[in-house]
Amino acid sequence: MFPSSTQAIPEQSAVPRHLAIIMDGNGRWATERFLPRSAGHARGVQAVRRIVEACGRRNVRYLTLFAFSSENWRRPREEVSLLMRLFIQTLEKEVDKLEEQGVRLRVVGDVSAFEPRLRQLIEMVETRTAHNTLLNLTVAANYGGRWDILQAMRHMLRAEPELATHLNDIDEARLAPHLSMAWAPEPDLFIRTGGEQRVSNFLIWQLAYTELYFTDSYWPDFDANALDRAFAWYRSRERRFGRTSEQLADGPAGR
Ligand code: IPE
Ligand code: IPE
Ligand code: MG
Repeated sequence: MFPSSTQAIPEQSAVPRHLAIIMDGNGRWATERFLPRSAGHARGVQAVRRIVEACGRRNVRYLTLFAFSSENWRRPREEVSLLMRLFIQTLEKEVDKLEEQGVRLRVVGDVSAFEPRLRQLIEMVETRTAHNTLLNLTVAANYGGRWDILQAMRHMLRAEPELATHLNDIDEARLAPHLSMAWAPEPDLFIRTGGEQRVSNFLIWQLAYTELYFTDSYWPDFDANALDRAFAWYRSRERRFGRTSEQLADGPAGR
């Protein structure tokens, strides 16, 4: 497991090792063009393809994309089923390409709510790409940060029932291995497109020390240049993790 940002200072590099994105603005992109929202979602899939490729070329090791939140079920039924269909079609169409590009795909979220066909497809793509190591692509689907923390708590207590009577033994190190992305380092950079400046129940635990970048671009317009602008901004940040600037200037001794 990678160390937690609250327990140790994470390794840092010019390019984020883990990038997490809230792909927002598909609907508004379409509405501004007098198109149905579905057209925006279809364009959104093309943007995913572009960004996966661009991240691979830039040596990003983990890319996590928020595709469907635990609250998105509140949308009109037709939009929810369109998104499910699009998810199925995209997985079917892209599995070969993911293979070719060395991308390992995982899905995090409560997939038990999905129809059996989608669940099987997810399992198939995860298995087929499991040996790939170039880029770890994670799609968060029916994901909610609060759900994640609660499911981790349940898993932890199932694995170690004695903790229920030794509450002081419950700490980060005990809980973290049960979080749904325990195999990944915490995100270095978070990007949200579409102009909203909120986290919308994405990786709320894991974003503790992530740099947060917001852009007005709608997701269907987000491209490699926009990604490079976000990376340039990221490079300009001083990541202190609770320390002072002076300590950073002193170098590793300040740690
Ligand atoms: C993001 O775009 C895609 C999903 C949430 C599935 P939206 O559909 O939220 O687009 P806006 O925010 O309505 O423009
Ligand atoms: C967040 O976008 C979820 C995804 C991009 C999948 P939303 O459009 O659902 O977020 P809110 O409702 O504006 O916060
Ligand atoms: Mg939205």
